Amino acid sequence: MSREAFIVGTGRGIPEKILTNADLEKIVDTSDAWITERTGIKFRHMTDESTSTSDIALLAAQNAMESAGWSAADVQCIILATVTPDYPFPATACLIADRLGLSRVPAWDFEAGCSGFVYGLIQAKAFIEAGFFDRMLVIGADCLTKITNWKDRASCVLFGDGAGAVAVSSQGPGGRLGGYHWGSDGAISDLLIQHGGGSKHPASHETVDAAMHTIAMNGSETFKHAVRAMRDACMKALEMEGLDKSEVDLLISHQANWRIIDATARALSLKPEQVYVNIDRYGNTSAASIPIALDEVARGGLLSPPKRLVTAAFGAGLTWAAMVLSWKA
Ligand code: ACO
Repeated sequence: MSREAFIVGTGRGIPEKILTNADLEKIVDTSDAWITERTGIKFRHMTDESTSTSDIALLAAQNAMESAGWSAADVQCIILATVTPDYPFPATACLIADRLGLSRVPAWDFEAGCSGFVYGLIQAKAFIEAGFFDRMLVIGADCLTKITNWKDRASCVLFGDGAGAVAVSSQGPGGRLGGYHWGSDGAISDLLIQHGGGSKHPASHETVDAAMHTIAMNGSETFKHAVRAMRDACMKALEMEGLDKSEVDLLISHQANWRIIDATARALSLKPEQVYVNIDRYGNTSAASIPIALDEVARGGLLSPPKRLVTAAFGAGLTWAAMVLSWKA
């Protein structure tokens, strides 16, 4: 029998501080009504100055390990999707591995924008099915508020901070990692970009003065590509799994904008109760949005009776990815 990979534990790490739409009204020319109607966001969580991505990712990883019943000795590999690592290097995954007390296991970061966590699930599926590991931690964590341009009302209202993690095992029972689709289109990378701080524009007084270390986004163009990419990715993941869209129980989409989630749900002909939405309480937490939602679904008892889920995301790159997660026998 060929090897399979299963989600056997979930966890999240959420900073306590909250930023409401009313708070944002005091910073930029916006309104609670506009943000609510155009995005679905009511408030978002935010790290303080002394908290970074590794801190909330650690919490998510600890909670995922606890829910899987794993100790540090069980984890054979840890991977982290993030666009806001603690440092350009070393990898934040190494710092988390150390704080978890893991024993010299492979640990690395990767970035695929908001698609990062689903990219991570696909990597975990590949490594576990190929026999490299039996137990891996996959984390999605971001502190987008650390790279937000607070003078740009079109983007600063969207983002929040958070972390989510899953424990993935070669042994079920759990959510089987099934059909997937992933892709990218670098030709439209300038729709969503942090221009400064890399090797193209190393940090300097000029880059900081020009706010090049913050997120630059063409929102409406990103929106159009997101709707198309998420719909296509879902369909291709279902096709790989040999499923029809009518066999999906629940959609866990990247939480960027409720209108994008709604458009993806319509493409799958899902009813509102088949779509998990928490963007109102988190905003867009980038690579963390899907594992946070997954943890809420699991701990909220929504996987009982067992369900067949589709996760779908898009993000900077542009990238996109979808995967079928099946809690059914
Ligand atoms: N408050 C009030 N008015 C605003 C605001 C605001 N915060 N932001 C923009 N507006 C105004 C605009 O200036 C514009 O005014 P005008 O008509 O007088 O010119 C009007 O609202 C409409 O602007 P649009 O940009 O067309 O609004 P749209 O309906 O597209 O919504 C939004 C904007 C919410 C950004 C949407 O396009 C979106 O969600 N896009 C996807 C963004 C996304 O998901 N990015 C992922 C980033 S995360 C990552 O990968 C790191």
